[in-house]
This record gives sequence, C-alpha cells and structure tokens, in this order.
Amino acid sequence: MIEREETARSREPRRLLVELGENSYPIWIGEGLMDRLAEKLPPLQPGARIFILTDHHVDAFYGDWAERILREAGYPTRRLSLEPGEATKAFGSLPPIYEALLDFQCTRKDLMITLGGGVIGDLGGFAAATYLRGMPFVQIPTSLLAQVDSSVGGKVAVDLPQGKNLVGCFYQPKAVLIDPLLLQTLPERYFRDGMAEVIKYGCIRDAAFLERLAGLADRNAVMAVMADIIETCCRHKKSYVEADERDLGLRMHLNFGHTLGHAIEASEHYEGHSHGEAVAMGMAAITRISEAMSLTQPGTAEKLEKLLRQHGLPCRMPVEKKKEILAAIATDKKNLGRTLKVVLLKTLGESYLWDASPSFFDAAAGWQAE
Ligand SMILES: NC(=O)c1ccc[n+]([C@@H]2O[C@H](COP(=O)([O-])OP(=O)(O)OC[C@H]3O[C@@H](n4cnc5c(N)ncnc54)[C@H](O)[C@@H]3O)[C@@H](O)[C@H]2O)c1
Repeated sequence: MIEREETARSREPRRLLVELGENSYPIWIGEGLMDRLAEKLPPLQPGARIFILTDHHVDAFYGDWAERILREAGYPTRRLSLEPGEATKAFGSLPPIYEALLDFQCTRKDLMITLGGGVIGDLGGFAAATYLRGMPFVQIPTSLLAQVDSSVGGKVAVDLPQGKNLVGCFYQPKAVLIDPLLLQTLPERYFRDGMAEVIKYGCIRDAAFLERLAGLADRNAVMAVMADIIETCCRHKKSYVEADERDLGLRMHLNFGHTLGHAIEASEHYEGHSHGEAVAMGMAAITRISEAMSLTQPGTAEKLEKLLRQHGLPCRMPVEKKKEILAAIATDKKNLGRTLKVVLLKTLGESYLWDASPSFFDAAAGWQAE
C-alpha cells in the first residue's frame, strides 16, 4: 500500500452529478477517497454482497486494501483478478466472471465494483450489464485515462478479433469514485496516455484549461493539481454525456484525434504505439491538415504540438505505415456506409464536426516527418 498524507484524508471529496433521470449518479473525487470507499457506495440492502473485479497490477497495490475496507463495513466480499491488458477485454473473459458471480451467489441486489483502468471498467461494466439482465456496479478507476474519461458515461464493451468495442451497450454505473492518489503507482507510459485525453478536453472546449496545462512542467506538477484536472475533465465529459447519452451526435466531439489514433493502433495490431500516443499523433496530424485547408485558425497545430511534446507525447505520424493507416480508416466501424465525420478544431478550445472523405487523411500536411 502506498503512503498517504494525513491531510488528504480529512479533505472533503468533491461531488459532481451526472444527470440522466433515473440513471443519474454521482462522481466523487478526492485524495484519500479509497479510505472512505464504503461511505460513498450507493444504498445497499443489509447483507448485500460486493464483488470486486480487478487486474493483477491493480490488485497487487489496492486489492487487499479495498476488500478490507468493505469487510470492515460489514459487506461480504469476493474478488476476481484478471490478467492486465487489452487482451483481457475479450468475449472469452466473460464466462469466468459470470461463473464467479454465480459462485458468490450474487443477485441483482448485490454490487459489482470495477477496480482498475479502462479495460476492467469496460469489461466489468459489460458483465454487470448482462449478468441476470443487469446488476448494479460502481467504477473505481485507477488509471488516468479511466479517471478522466472511460469511467464516466456508461459505454461498456468487449472487443472481438475483428476490432475493438464491437460488442457492448450503454449501462451507467451507480457511482464513480475517483482517488487521484491511486495514480502514484501508475506506470509512466499509462500516465502519458491519460494526459493525451486530458489535453483533448482542453482542445475541444476549454482554452483556459490548456493554458493551465501549459504551465505544468512535469508529472509532479500535474499530480499536485490532479484533483482539479480530473474534476475539469469529468465536468466536460458529464456535460457531453448528459446531452447525448447514446453517442448519436454531440458526444462525437470526444473522438477528436481518435479516427487517426485508432487507425494507427489497428495498423500496428495494437502492439506498437499506446492508445494515448496514437491519439496525440492523431490530434496533431488532423489539426495540421485542417489548418492547411484553412479550416482551423493558423498557428493552432504548432501550439498543440508544443503542449503534447511537453507532456511526453509524440506528434508526427508513423509515415512508414501510411498505407495501412489509411486502409484502417476506410474500414473503421464508425465509417461504415456513410461520410466520415471528423472532429476539427476551429481554434484551441473550440471543436466542430466536419464531413470528410477518406482522402482527407491523405493530405501531405498530416504526414510530415520529424
Ligand atoms: N468506456 C469508455 O468511454 C472508454 C473511453 C476511453 C477508453 N476506453 C477503453 O479504456 C481502455 C484503456 O484503458 P486504460 O488505458 O486505463 O488501460 P488498462 O485498463 O489496461 O490500464 C493500463 C495499465 O495500467 C495498469 N494500472 C491501472 N491503474 C493502475 C495503478 N493505479 N497503478 C498501477 N498500475 C495501474 C493496468 O494494470 C494496466 O496494465 C481501452 O480498452 C479503451 O477502449 C473506454
């Protein structure tokens, strides 16, 4: 277990409410929140069981701790830890989860907690949505990407060999509990991944936030204001989700940089650049292209690249993979049967949707080498 400051414990967590009618839920954000985990759970019947789904990395740091707190609060608990990594977000991971839930005699009155990054959140959320036609679940995101993005919004899914997130549904958690101190153990690579999503929020709707990020020199500086950063991102995510729960329009803005990003990952069979690196390259490249086409205010790409590099993220596309990347864009599930909607920046802090042809991505400005 990591050491925690006494002062952090006494600080009251912040609360945001995702307002979705009967599917509304709170997001709690606070340093030391893990210690108060049991207090922040949704109301449960006496004797309710809690099933914790996690992965081996997260389990090693936080599994015993979470289970102890819940047991001390009187909940019978059971924990299932899976192999870390995207390969676990697969259809084949579901039966062992259902079996463990059955073995623990979980009903719809019990609760699943997903303790982990986006993989565990997406997989566990989908298992919760489908077990007994839906049992309640709470997200405790432990990666930066999950704390600022994937734990909020109710998109849960598993991958198929043909592609990512191809089987899933919309299923909102009952609460999201975010303790920024858990990020102290997050490996650097995944910290940077999360920063790409953090920068994305600034790009699409918050220029002042981008300026604040530009003033943070390194991970320590970011960690010092992490609760603020997470709150800002979750506020933005919440407002997109409230306006477009089913991802039919406005929520597409959150895909800024992701069309190219996903194509890079697919062209490398998910074994090359990380998700955040690919999204960073995608955001920079699409902004260079749109700027060259006078669809974006001049100077935007340069400022964006400077910020991305400052936070350890790459900006130039892997030119040697151009053919494969363009082919992957053409087969992306979001492009099936229609014009390709892409998210462009008018300027930093303001995004809009644009109908592009796949050849849009061919433009030379996107493929400049270092
Ligand atoms: N549902 C959504 O809206 C949404 C949005 C964006 C991304 N996603 C999904 O999220 C997934 C990626 O999430 P991710 O980047 O969190 O990956 P991940 O869950 O694989 O976590 C990254 C790595 O960090 C480790 N880890 C996590 N927290 C840790 C901690 N506190 N200390 C030490 N190690 C820790 C994990 O074990 C793993 O090895 C993808 O499957 C993506 O499709 C979903």
